[in-house]
Amino acid sequence: MEDRFGHRISYLRVSITDRCNERCSYCMPRELQEWLPREDVLSYEETLRIIRVAADLGVKKIRVTGGEPLVRRNILEFIHEIPKIPGIKQLGLSTNGTLLARETSPGQTMAAALRAAGVQSINVSLDTLDSNDYAQITGRDFHDEVLRGIDAAITAGFEQIKLNTVLMRGRNEDQLIPLIEFAATRNLILRFIEMMPVTTTEVLSDANFLPVAETKRAIENQFGDLIPEQSFRTSGPATYYQIPGRDQRIGFIGAMTNLHFCESCNKLRLTCDGKLRPCLGSYLEFDIMKPLRSGASDDELRQFFVDVVERKPEQHDFRTNYQPNRKMIAIGG
Ligand SMILES: C[S@@+](CC[C@H](N)C(=O)[O-])C[C@H]1O[C@@H](n2cnc3c(N)ncnc32)[C@H](O)[C@@H]1O
Ligand code: SF4
Repeated sequence: MEDRFGHRISYLRVSITDRCNERCSYCMPRELQEWLPREDVLSYEETLRIIRVAADLGVKKIRVTGGEPLVRRNILEFIHEIPKIPGIKQLGLSTNGTLLARETSPGQTMAAALRAAGVQSINVSLDTLDSNDYAQITGRDFHDEVLRGIDAAITAGFEQIKLNTVLMRGRNEDQLIPLIEFAATRNLILRFIEMMPVTTTEVLSDANFLPVAETKRAIENQFGDLIPEQSFRTSGPATYYQIPGRDQRIGFIGAMTNLHFCESCNKLRLTCDGKLRPCLGSYLEFDIMKPLRSGASDDELRQFFVDVVERKPEQHDFRTNYQPNRKMIAIGG
């Protein structure tokens, strides 16, 4: 599938829940959150059917996300089915890490069970190594659980583990170097992500927005000029650098300040309530649950996908007229 601007779609991010056991300020507002009623969330069978249709059209990579995907019941049974779909070559999962070390059966952690079910790569969010700040940012005191979760992921032997850090001025600027050292000792890829305006506007202001360029300069003050890695791609939007004198790679995701950000976009998103979104940073979304539940054939669903891809914008609207109509937690980050 190719859109009007030459973006080749090969990657579908699948959100399986809007629920979460944390309350990150940049993702969901502190006010009481109402979750979607169960019947408004795609069943696993429905989600798998949509993935099959996407795979028929050339989608090769799936990333399961949320909300927090690991809070949804029977996730392992669902995950297990994805690699069996013809055409799917890569399976990843994004998580806050809090439940990775939990035992799913005696002696087996959730991380190991996910690996055994076919997950190849895992992204874990970690904004700080300070447990008090962690609790402030996420609204929950789960820092220890996340650190244990990361260890469990390392033991489980994923092909790739990435740590994702959302940049917040006044909150985790002092954590850049400690996080780099933390990732270095565990041989993990660390990525710094600019905060995007997908939550209430009070959270995203000039006072708390920390751009990637400033972050990179601060890191270079410590380590010297970072070495660009043109060849390293993870079919995502990050640009990667090597730290001089080290075998360590770090990435930057500058959705707000990198004007070329959207050029290599290969992605569509499926929300847990059955909306296909051609772009995270655009209000456009198309309800695939309706045709799915009213008996559409696979051919009709394929055509639905093709029509959505046709509407994929050239670039996101974050810098201009974006109106957050959904929180990140409801889109699937
Ligand atoms: C929405 S979360 C879902 C998966 C999982 N719960 C987690 O936290 O990793 C996916 C990613 O989106 C990031 N994220 C959430 N809100 C964001 C925002 N406003 N700007 C940038 N990244 C954001 C999170 O930090 C996380 O790395
Ligand atoms: S970023 Fe992840 S952990 Fe934090 S509230 Fe959003 S979904 Fe939950």
